Amino acid sequence: MKTLNIGLIGFGTIGSGVVKVLEEKKNELQQKTNCEFRIRAIADKDISSPRCVRVSKDVLTKDVHKILDDPEIDVVIELIGGIHPAKEFIINALKNKKDVITANKALLAEHGEELFKIAAENEREILFEASVCGGIPVIKTLRQNLFADKIESLSGIVNGTSNYILSKMEENDWEFEEALAQAKREGIAEADASLDTQGLDSRHKIVILARLIFNANIKLEDIFYQGIENIKLEDLRYAREFGYTIKLLAIAKSFKEGTGGVYVYPALISEKHLLSKVKGAFNALSLRGDVVGELFFYGKGAGMLPTASAVISDLAQIPTPHASRHTLIPLRAQAGTGTPHTQKTKLKIKKIDELEKSYYIRFLAVDQPGVLAAIAKILGEQGVSIASVVQKERKEKEIVPIVMMTHYAKEKSVQKALAEIDKLPIVKERLVVRIEE
Ligand code: HSE
Repeated sequence: MKTLNIGLIGFGTIGSGVVKVLEEKKNELQQKTNCEFRIRAIADKDISSPRCVRVSKDVLTKDVHKILDDPEIDVVIELIGGIHPAKEFIINALKNKKDVITANKALLAEHGEELFKIAAENEREILFEASVCGGIPVIKTLRQNLFADKIESLSGIVNGTSNYILSKMEENDWEFEEALAQAKREGIAEADASLDTQGLDSRHKIVILARLIFNANIKLEDIFYQGIENIKLEDLRYAREFGYTIKLLAIAKSFKEGTGGVYVYPALISEKHLLSKVKGAFNALSLRGDVVGELFFYGKGAGMLPTASAVISDLAQIPTPHASRHTLIPLRAQAGTGTPHTQKTKLKIKKIDELEKSYYIRFLAVDQPGVLAAIAKILGEQGVSIASVVQKERKEKEIVPIVMMTHYAKEKSVQKALAEIDKLPIVKERLVVRIEE
């Protein structure tokens, strides 16, 4: 029986979940792997609060160097999140020849290239299944299983909080603020909920996936993102009338050779698409490979046990101390992580204003003769053709919603037209949402 000595940094919800599962499934995991996963030390600022699992006092420490400097520790699991000091701890662990498992999406999204380079220089691994979509095994699927495939497209709901908010708005006829307050009460949202609602968390996750999909060093700053704060209950209602729902999507798409698109934005998706059925805090990914065809993944993207499942799946991949390295991790596993093991693809990122799509546009405008004609004229001048218009509440001289669905149009033209329409004194507010076919 081999032994893998583990140092855990961060004994919060996920950390205690990992320890609990390792404890409860000790025999089962040993039988499956012929390896004992032994927690040698756990570092946390708080070592006195009760957790869901009991551990010996000898294992707990406030001093992270008891882990980083212990030559007996083979693998460090980092679960404190945030950039600093997590980054320094991981670098220190790699330089001390320890493999690293992390759930830290923000850190990998912002500093992944540097960290994977240090890992390669030290012939150590950084494994990160828990960083994207919690319990959904998407990282290993992209790194290993879909070895033969070129991923043509991936559209996902990768932020549970924003999906929870949109679902609650739809279900309960709530406005955004009410649904956000409920997400906070239920402890679903990040401490800074704007990370969820503004699309920043989704952006962190899609850049990690896109680097694997395109095998390219994609910069976080190159990814367009937009959140859901401007979506109103009435938008969800209008969308439903047209046969759609609204979801915050993270998208990675291959265009012609050497060009890819990576975006985060709220989108109208058909009620017939599986992604539209994903409600509450669940995550889902719809993926198309050129060999495998369509795949769909659904599951919990956060929470103690789903995330612990992902962390432990990484543990099973860490080579034991005297095993030859890379025997357990296929070559393709290095792809997309910024290591020198594979040649990186040069990828041109297609900017958002280069896209062509159909659009949902809602205006709030003064109800007076000629309003529709003025809006339609500007759209027409930019070559944007209207597919349908809805104006329900006719109240002379009052502010009323006008909703339009366009035919396929150039994003640049739509934005140009909207900038002109914004100047009309009769138009008081407007929202545009892309329609995802
Ligand atoms: N805030 C994240 C979400 C947590 O809502 O999906 C999981 O990464």
